[in-house]
Formats: sequence, C-alpha cells, structure tokens
Amino acid sequence: MSTSSPSTQGWVLADAFDRAAPTYDAMVALSPGYHDQLLGAAGELLDRLPAPDGSALTVLDLGCGSGASTQALLKQWRTRGGAADRLSVTGVDMSEGMVAQARAKSWPAGVELVVSDAVTYLEALPDDTVDGILACYLLRNVPDRERLVREMARVLRPGGGVVIHDYSVQGSTRARAIWATICHGVIIPLAVVKRSDVPLHRYLYTSVRDFDSVARICERLLGAGLVDVRHRTYRGWQRDVIHTVGGSAPL
Ligand SMILES: C[S@@+](CC[C@H](N)C(=O)[O-])C[C@H]1O[C@@H](n2cnc3c(N)ncnc32)[C@H](O)[C@@H]1O
Repeated sequence: MSTSSPSTQGWVLADAFDRAAPTYDAMVALSPGYHDQLLGAAGELLDRLPAPDGSALTVLDLGCGSGASTQALLKQWRTRGGAADRLSVTGVDMSEGMVAQARAKSWPAGVELVVSDAVTYLEALPDDTVDGILACYLLRNVPDRERLVREMARVLRPGGGVVIHDYSVQGSTRARAIWATICHGVIIPLAVVKRSDVPLHRYLYTSVRDFDSVARICERLLGAGLVDVRHRTYRGWQRDVIHTVGGSAPL
C-alpha cells in the first residue's frame, strides 16, 4: 500500500485499483474517445521533447495503470518514425494489480514497469535526468499535488516536457452538471453491470468533482517553473470535462 494513496475510513485507493484491475481495460473500452485522447496527450508530450541527439530519450508514464497510456506513447513514437531503441519508457504505478495487468501485455525492450508511488519514485531520481513525463488520470489522485509537480519539474532536463491529462470540472457550471449526470446515469451503473469496483467509481465522481480547475493545474505547472504552459479540451459532452495540459522545462 502506498503512503501517498488516499485513504478514508479503511478504504484505500491503491487497494481499490488492485480490485478494479481485472476489469479496468473493459471499462475504459466503453468510454468514448478514451484511447484517442491518450494518443493526443502522448503526441503532445512527444512534440515537446528535444530532438534526439543520438542517445535514447527517457520518458516516464506516471500512473501508467494497465499500460494504456504507455501504449499510446509507443504508438505515437512509431508514428513519428522513432526507432524503438531511441525511446526508454518507465511506467510507474502504485497498484500492484494494475501493473500486473500492464506486465501481461507485450512490450518492446526499453519499456520498464515499476510498482511505486509516483512521488516516492521521482524523489529517488537525480535532477535533470528525464526528457518527458506523461501523467494521465494521476494528478487528481495524489494528495500532495504541489510536491508531485515540483518533483516532476526538478527531474526534467532543460527543454523537457510534461503532459497532464485528466478530468477537471471546477471551472465550469455546465461541466459540473454533465459530470454528475454521466457518473450517476452511466459510469456507476456500468461499474455495477461489469462487476467492477463500485466504490472506486463513486470515488471517481467525487475526486473529479472536488479536483483543481484547469486554471489551477496550469498555475501549478507555472509555479514549479515550467514554461509554455497550454491546455486543450475535447469535443461533445467532454468539452471542459477532460483536459490535456502541457508545460516545458526552460532551456
Ligand atoms: C485511472 S488510472 C489511469 C491509468 C493510465 N494512465 C491510463 O490512462 O489508462 C490511474 C492510475 O493511477 C495510479 N495512481 C494513483 N495514485 C498514484 C500514486 N500516488 N502513485 C502512482 N500511481 C498512482 C492508480 O493506481 C491507477 O492505476
């Protein structure tokens, strides 16, 4: 169990992800645009990375879960004509069950999957050693967000990039109403039907409802010293609900 895993009255987030792990891929397959958006977030990260100088780029996928975001990174790398031996990706996740799902997939050399709390993992790294960090649906789950973002900025090499992809509805009354309707009308009932972890899906609702606005996420990146901070949202009901926020370490 992680020291940074939210825990309330005996309910521990890392344990909930362990329980949900066997049905996680099936649940996200029902989420419209889930994989396309991960591809978009991964593409935005790769666009921010320095041109390879002959050595492999080092990228972290924090909160890699069952590996969907790691797969998106590799797919975008291949699409850009990147050689397999020029990208080193470490997926980090606090849930042993989620990492077990990821490890059951097939990966090229250069991909490593580690069970660890994200902040603990970053704190063990020296300064300026990582080219890029992808964090899809992670930030909201980390109790000390300030520390996570500060550590991300510290380990990035000059010119490296960070992309955070997550739900955020605080900034919009419409988005808050849509999020409540989708969760109570679709996501939580689907978790019951799919025999996934229902308390985890209730937590999904409240954690997003109470999470930072996208403006606050941008402020966090700027406050950690990152530059060129930009965000975008998606179409349809996901407009102002799902966001991709990127920033770069100054050269
Ligand atoms: C919703 S899943 C997203 C997985 C993957 N990034 C994707 O996009 O499909 C969030 C993941 O973050 C992990 N997580 C939450 N808090 C964490 C922390 N403090 N350190 C590491 N992993 C964490 C959970 O275990 C879970 O696997």
